[in-house]
Amino acid sequence: MPEIHWDSKLYNEQHHFVSDYGADVLQWLNAKAGENILDIGCGTGDLAAKIQEIGATVLGIDASADMVELAKQSYPAIHFEQKDAAALDYNREFDAVFSNATFHWVENQKGLLRGIYKSLKHGGRLVAEFGGKGNIKSIIDAIEDAAKQLHFEHRVISNFWFFPSISHYATLLESTGFEAAQIWLFDRPTKLVGEDGMLKWINQFAQHAFVNLNEEEAKAVTDLAVSILKPTHFKDGEWTADYRRLRIKAIKK
Ligand code: BEZ
Repeated sequence: MPEIHWDSKLYNEQHHFVSDYGADVLQWLNAKAGENILDIGCGTGDLAAKIQEIGATVLGIDASADMVELAKQSYPAIHFEQKDAAALDYNREFDAVFSNATFHWVENQKGLLRGIYKSLKHGGRLVAEFGGKGNIKSIIDAIEDAAKQLHFEHRVISNFWFFPSISHYATLLESTGFEAAQIWLFDRPTKLVGEDGMLKWINQFAQHAFVNLNEEEAKAVTDLAVSILKPTHFKDGEWTADYRRLRIKAIKK
């Protein structure tokens, strides 16, 4: 996972749409009272809380200590732990594993899926949604274009996320032992909050792109990328990001 500083307060105020959209994925999870469920990349804990409301028991894990701290404060009745998603050490404990907007951050996808497979009881399910092939292509292209115009193209890391196609992910799931029950790839244009929504999005989520630049250089690339995107992605006072989701349901056979 790339080094990202997660500001949980900013995330809650500015990027709350992540949990709001995640509520849709919960329908695929269809959690039941009494089930034991692992939420990978629980963030601020909002979706774990929705699962627990149904009567299931949830363990929420996240790589960010800041996020886990905020989740614990917001939902003291739920168990949260700081943990690397690619190094799970559970053994047949969970009826289901759930994840929203996290898998695209994980470099070691085989390690992630092997850990999930081992964590699930026989017949258990994995339900997850994350960025699919083509996700945020315009934003990546704008960062690349801006870096090129400013002659920083060899120092900017423009695409460090994992956005797989349906066939790529089906193969990964099946080679781990899962049955890929359902996989959808769909556009989900996503409104960002405020006139500086794109600037704040890049500052929060794309900060790893600029690890080889100083602050002034990173700001120049970010500002130029925002101005490249503005004519096409800022309408009637609102920014829209070109999200594409891969939503999966897989069964441990
Ligand atoms: C996503 O949810 O698709 C996403 C969020 C932040 C960075 C990259 C992708």
